[in-house]
Amino acid sequence: MSPPDELHRVEMRGAKLHGEELHEVRLIVNGAARTAHVPARRLLSDCIRHDLRLTGTHVGCEHGVCGACTILLDGAPVRSCLLLAVSADGAAITTIEGLAEPDGALSPVQQAFSECHGLQCGFCTPGFLTTVTAGLRAVPDPDDEQAREMIAGNLCRCTGYQNILASVHRAAEITRDRPSRVASREAAATPAGPA
Ligand code: FES
Ligand code: FES
Repeated sequence: MSPPDELHRVEMRGAKLHGEELHEVRLIVNGAARTAHVPARRLLSDCIRHDLRLTGTHVGCEHGVCGACTILLDGAPVRSCLLLAVSADGAAITTIEGLAEPDGALSPVQQAFSECHGLQCGFCTPGFLTTVTAGLRAVPDPDDEQAREMIAGNLCRCTGYQNILASVHRAAEITRDRPSRVASREAAATPAGPA
C-alpha cells in the first residue's frame, strides 16, 4: 500500500458521515482494486454511483423489480439496489463500464444491442446488457423461450421487447464467433472459494 493510501485509511478510521460511522469496503471493480468508505446502510447501487462515480449503473425502482441496476457480482447477475455495499466487501464486480473488451471494442452483447436496435432511451440498457452477458454464459444458445426467460426480470418502458429479443439471439451468434474476453478477466479477479 502506498503511503498516501495508508494515510487516507488512517484518516478514515472512525470517520462519520452525518453522524453515521463509515465502513471500509474493498472491491475489485471492472478489474481494478477500489475502496469506498460508506455508512452501513448504503446500498451497493448508491455506492457504485455516488462513491465509485460509475453512473452507468442505473437506478429505477430501487426495490428489485425493474432490473436497471443489475451488475455482475463474482460473475453472477445481481440487483445492486437489493444489496448493502458492506455485504459486497471483498467481491469482484462488473458494471456496464466494464463490459467492453480491454481494447475498447464493444462486447458481443453490446454489439448485438447496437446492431439490432435493442434500445431507445437507454435507461434500462445497462441492466439488460449485464443480465444478457451472464445469461449467455449459462445458456449459450438460447431458443426463443429461453431468451425470453433470460430477460423476463428486466423492464423496458420504451421498446416492445422484440428488438431486445433479437439482440439476445444476435449476441449468442457473435459470442460463438468471438467470446468476450471480459469473462476471463472476471475469473482472474474473483476471490477463490474455500479449498
Ligand atoms: S433499481 Fe434495482 S431492480 Fe429496479
Ligand atoms: S430503452 Fe428506454 S426504458 Fe428501455
